[in-house]
Amino acid sequence: MTYESVRGSYDGDVYSREDGAQHNVGKEETDPETSTFHQGKMRLFRYDPVEVGHILYVEITPGRYVQMKTLAVHPPVFEIPHFLTKEECEHLKNLAMDEGLKTSSTVNKTLKASGVDESKVAFNETEWNTKLHECDLDADSQLDFDEALSCIPGLEADEALPPSDLGRMYVELILDLNSDGFINSRELWLINLPNKTARIRKWLEQWRRGTLPPKGRQRGRVSDQAWIDWKETKHDVIRKLRERVTAVTKLDWKIVHSSESLQVVRYRPGGLYHAHYDSTGISSDTQCGHTARVLDSYPEEKERLCRYATILYYLNDVEEGGETAFPVADMKNNSKEFISSLPYDAYDLSSSCRRNLAVKPETGKAVLWYNHLVDDDTGWMGNRDGFSLHGGCEVTKGIKWIANNWILVDDVYERQMRYQEKIFHESNGTKKDGVGDGVFDAKDATTKDSNPPGDVRSPNREKEMAGEKGEEQENTWYHHHSNRLSSPPAHPEL
Ligand code: OGA
Ligand code: FE2
Repeated sequence: MTYESVRGSYDGDVYSREDGAQHNVGKEETDPETSTFHQGKMRLFRYDPVEVGHILYVEITPGRYVQMKTLAVHPPVFEIPHFLTKEECEHLKNLAMDEGLKTSSTVNKTLKASGVDESKVAFNETEWNTKLHECDLDADSQLDFDEALSCIPGLEADEALPPSDLGRMYVELILDLNSDGFINSRELWLINLPNKTARIRKWLEQWRRGTLPPKGRQRGRVSDQAWIDWKETKHDVIRKLRERVTAVTKLDWKIVHSSESLQVVRYRPGGLYHAHYDSTGISSDTQCGHTARVLDSYPEEKERLCRYATILYYLNDVEEGGETAFPVADMKNNSKEFISSLPYDAYDLSSSCRRNLAVKPETGKAVLWYNHLVDDDTGWMGNRDGFSLHGGCEVTKGIKWIANNWILVDDVYERQMRYQEKIFHESNGTKKDGVGDGVFDAKDATTKDSNPPGDVRSPNREKEMAGEKGEEQENTWYHHHSNRLSSPPAHPEL
C-alpha cells in the first residue's frame, strides 16, 4: 500500500478552539495527557497513532492548535502542517548559511582512493582554472551538473545525461572528491587524466547500452549541513521552537532543551540520503554518547546515538523529488531478511525512490516520528523500532532544505536524569545575563510541572558538542557519530 502525504485542506497555520467546523473533520480527538509519573519516575510520552489518517489537534501555545495527522502506525509517523511559519523557515536557512554549510569530509575521497598516484602526475591549478572557465557559464568557479556535461570527455554534444546518472558516475568512478555535487578545477584535472578518461568512456558506453551493472547499495548521503546551537541559543526563533517542540511532543522540557543541536541540511539536485536509522540499537556494551560525554569519560567508539524521536522540518517546497521515505512503514515485518527479500533495494532512495510511505516536502511542515518503542513496564525508552528506517529521496529538481531536531533520551533512566541535572545545574553555576534562577537541581528532573528558564546555559563540554565551529565539522561527537556523515552507520547491523 502506498500512502502519499496530502496537503491539509485548510489555510493558515493554526486552529483555534472555537473553530468547531474544522474540529469535526475526520476521526480527530482532543489532546491526550502529557507525560505521567509512575512510582516517582517519569514516563516518556508517546502519541498513540490510532490509525492512518487519524487527526488530532494539539495545543502548542495557549489557544493555538496544530493539526497532527497519522501517516503510519509502525513506526508512529505524524505530519504537522504549518508548524513553522515561512519567516521562521527563512530564518533557519539564514542561520545555517551564517554558520556555513559544510559537506562532510568523512565522505571526501582522496586522489589515492580515486586511483591516482600524486607522485607521478601534478595538478597545475592555473591551467585547470582556465579550462574550467570554458564550461563555467555562471562563473562561480565550479561546474554544476549542466555545466559539467560540456566538460566531460566522451560525452557527445547532444547527449543529455540526466543529473541522477551523472551523479551516479561521480560516485562510481570517484570523480567528485569532496562529494559536493560540483566539479572544481582539481576534479576537472582528475577527470582528464588518461586512465580516468578511459574509465569514463567505458562507463558511458555501458550507460548508452543500458548495460551498467545493477547499482550497489549506495550508502550515505549527498548534502551539506550546518549545526545550530539548541541548548544555549541567543536566537528567538530557536527559543520559540524549543517551546513549541516541548508542547507538541508533550515531553518534559528538560529532555527537549537538553537535546541535540538543530541540524540544517541542504540538498542540491541529485542530493539524497539513503535509508538509515537515526538512532542506534540498544546494546549493553555501548552507552548513549550524549550522556557519556557529560557524565563519564567513555571510549568514543563505544558511544551510540540515542535519539528517541525525530522532528524533521521542511524549510521549502521542493520542485521535484526529495520526499522523506519510510520504506518499511506499516509492512508486516522489519527484519533484515524480510527487507532483503523485497524485489527491490529498499535502502536505495535514488531516482526510482521505492517507498511505502513518502512524505512530500512543504514549507513549514513538520514530521514527527519515534525511533524507539516505550517499554510498557518501565514507561521509559525501549528498543529501537525496526520500522523507523527512513531517508530522503533524491531531489530531481530544485533545492531541498530541511532541519532535523533529534530528541535525545538515554535508555537508562538514571543516566538521563543525571545528565539533565548536570546540564541544568551547571548552567546555573555559569549563569549569565541573569538567566536561570538557581532552582534547577536534581529534584526538578522528576517534578512534573517545572518550567524552563528563559535561557539555559550549558557547560563548556556541551558547547563542544554543539558543533558550532570546527574544521570540516569533524571535531565534535555528533559529527563523528551522526549517521549522516559517516557512511556505514546508516544501517549498522547490515
Ligand atoms: C536525516 C533524514 C530525510 C529527508 O537527515 O536524517 O532522514 O527527507 N532526512 O531529508
Ligand atoms: Fe534520518
